[in-house]
Amino acid sequence: MKFTYFNPTKLIFGEGTLSQLGTEVRALGKKALLVTGGGSIKRSGTFRKAVASLEQAGVSWAECSGVEPNPRLSTVNRGAGIAKEEGCDVVVALGGGSTMDAAKVMAAAVFYDGDPWDMMIHVRENRHEPQRALPIVTVPTLAATGSEMNGGAVITDEKTTVKSFVIAGCLYPRVALVDPELAMSVPADQTAYGICDLITHVTESYFNGVDGTPLQDRVAVGVILTAMEWGSKAVENGQNVEARAQVQWASTVALMGLVQAGSYAPFPVHLIEHSLSAHHDIAHGAGLSIVSPAWMRFAARSRPERFAQFAHRIFGIPFQKDNATEAAAEGIGRFETFLRSIGCPTRLSEVGIGEDLLERYAKDSLLIASDEQGRLPGRPPMSASDIVETLRTVL
Ligand code: NZQ
Ligand code: ZN
Repeated sequence: MKFTYFNPTKLIFGEGTLSQLGTEVRALGKKALLVTGGGSIKRSGTFRKAVASLEQAGVSWAECSGVEPNPRLSTVNRGAGIAKEEGCDVVVALGGGSTMDAAKVMAAAVFYDGDPWDMMIHVRENRHEPQRALPIVTVPTLAATGSEMNGGAVITDEKTTVKSFVIAGCLYPRVALVDPELAMSVPADQTAYGICDLITHVTESYFNGVDGTPLQDRVAVGVILTAMEWGSKAVENGQNVEARAQVQWASTVALMGLVQAGSYAPFPVHLIEHSLSAHHDIAHGAGLSIVSPAWMRFAARSRPERFAQFAHRIFGIPFQKDNATEAAAEGIGRFETFLRSIGCPTRLSEVGIGEDLLERYAKDSLLIASDEQGRLPGRPPMSASDIVETLRTVL
């Protein structure tokens, strides 16, 4: 095992911590670009409380509202423009993963005169790797992506319908202020999609990472079991603040780098899903809950023991070497049943996707990452036809 672990984000976690926003932001700047989504935080009262805290601490602000789910490049440009015009010296993201991701790239785009799309990971020629960004403070209102405490951001170029991402040291938030009360207004469907997303962040590592990471594997299992237990409660009763807190913490832990440390895992399920949400604007977690079990069935064919171990650790399904294939299949089936039980879709038709663009999804996934043989990295790697056939199983 060999790795470098880096995470400079200060995490402030707990009910009521939103009131600390002003003090934290004031330590980083005087005028904040307040990045917000489509209006949920205005309806819930979160926006009012955040602004009161900023103003009390003497922080002035300008708003970039209307960040859409699956945030668009044009929105990033708009926000960076506001930050420059208004002379903002700190960026505060108040919302879900989409808002946080857009805010991060805005913070870097302030220092880059070119197209922020140049920063994306798949750009092969003259890629601009961001080195500098305004200080970022994240305040998640939805438990899902873990964006609050990582250096990644996912953006869609709406003109080409390609969804890509950037990861950079300067995109780590300085402070993540995680107040689980803010998620109490999240509807049951989005709550469920977030649970699927956070679980998939650790299953990607668990199944696609290198061998020999037993601690990371057990942390992953802890995240999954916690998300299943407390996630079901949060879906059942959104006002259960204890459930909201446990799910929120699980989502932060799932993608703040601990589980991924030393695993060098590619994220094939994510790359396939991103091509779906780029084309159809579906919720990321909903897309994952369709792709993930389908991908597991594909991958279990070449590594049944690993999937049998998952079945055993998550669902207590016993297995021996000679029945690993059956145990793996049972575990994947139970996982799919869990996803359905919380209200996630598991078929493309449920989110209005047919078979017309299957080849295009494969091509777009491979545009973001491919190995020397032109396959999507993962265990095992997938050819374009593997991707098409896997998606075909869940039409
Ligand atoms: O826009 P508003 O009005 O706020 O409504 C949002 C949106 O409609 C709503 N919502 C958020 N907080 C709420 C709430 N509704 C009521 N009460 C609240 N407290 O939820 C809807 C979805 O929001 P969104 O931000 O799109 O969801 P999520 O957090 O799942 O983010 C998804 C985006 O993050 C990317 C995805 O690809 C997608 O673009 N990802 C980012 C990652 C990262 N940066 O590390 C990793 C992930 O794997 C993922 O790819
Ligand atoms: Zn995700």
